[in-house]
Amino acid sequence: MTPNPPRRPNPHEATVWLRPAQWLTLEGGGATAFRLASGSGGWVERLGNEVLVSHKSDAALEELLDGLAAWGSETGWVPARIFTRFLPLRNAERVPPVLHRGDPTLPLTSVVLEAGVRYGIDMAAGYSHGLFLDQRLNRARLRALKPRRVLNTFAYTCSFSVVAALAGAETVSIDLSRKSLDRGRRNFRLNGLDETGHRFLADDALEVLPRLAGADERFDAIILDPPTFSRGANGRRWQVEEHFEDLLNAALEVAAPEGSILLSTNCKALDPVVLERRARACAKAKRRAASFLQLGLPEDFPQGHGAATIWMRVR
Ligand SMILES: C[S@@+](CC[C@H](N)C(=O)[O-])C[C@H]1O[C@@H](n2cnc3c(N)ncnc32)[C@H](O)[C@@H]1O
Repeated sequence: MTPNPPRRPNPHEATVWLRPAQWLTLEGGGATAFRLASGSGGWVERLGNEVLVSHKSDAALEELLDGLAAWGSETGWVPARIFTRFLPLRNAERVPPVLHRGDPTLPLTSVVLEAGVRYGIDMAAGYSHGLFLDQRLNRARLRALKPRRVLNTFAYTCSFSVVAALAGAETVSIDLSRKSLDRGRRNFRLNGLDETGHRFLADDALEVLPRLAGADERFDAIILDPPTFSRGANGRRWQVEEHFEDLLNAALEVAAPEGSILLSTNCKALDPVVLERRARACAKAKRRAASFLQLGLPEDFPQGHGAATIWMRVR
């Protein structure tokens, strides 16, 4: 196992900008969506022809916009539009991105590419635009695994389901938000996939998992990427640090022999080492032999940025 990287951006860390050579590699790999910059005050994402600057303060916004202008002079790439988004401390204060510069009459939706796969972006849909860029390596791994049956819990816009379906899998996508699942369906259509063999369940993942187990459904790959906090369908409080074992134990009941499970979280208390330790205890209690793989984060995510993720394989 690789050493545990710090999970919090260092408050004194200088903003790191993507090097032009890295940009070429990412574009060469068929991506038009990646991080351009990451720092303690926020980050900049390229989303097709546009950028989104996410910032913790006005000073950080100014620094990131200045950095973007300098980076543009160096590389010759100028975004068609710039959106900005404030990063509040409390989820309840989250608001959608706002247009900072560019044509306000253009649509707020667009399509980006990753490894040749198309994903819809919507700047008006809410705080998040539709694609979590830090999951790029995990999406690539899921596709390479070529699983036959995939369970994508907390599916959001179903990006994991899309890559699994492109690899030939049947998928089940679960999310409390019907709107997010509708965006997932659109992502399927954007990639020429119809819904045959794919289910989209607008429900509480923690309630669906036991039902799937009871129906003897088994999956070769399971994606567990829950939010840090949420309220379930029945108002039940979910807190990943506290309920991680409940979720993984329920997932182990539907994991096929030699199945792969992605464990992913943005909770700062759960780094990959802690995730593995707690997952090992669950596997032992369920009498399933388990091995683990830490892929790390894509090259556009410096240490301390992005989700903590680990792949688990169970026998
Ligand atoms: C972090 S996002 C998941 C991102 C997704 N894995 C991806 O890579 O695009 C969390 C999602 O969990 C959903 N959610 C929250 N609580 C849930 C629950 N109890 N059951 C199912 N979905 C839930 C939210 O609606 C949100 O779409």
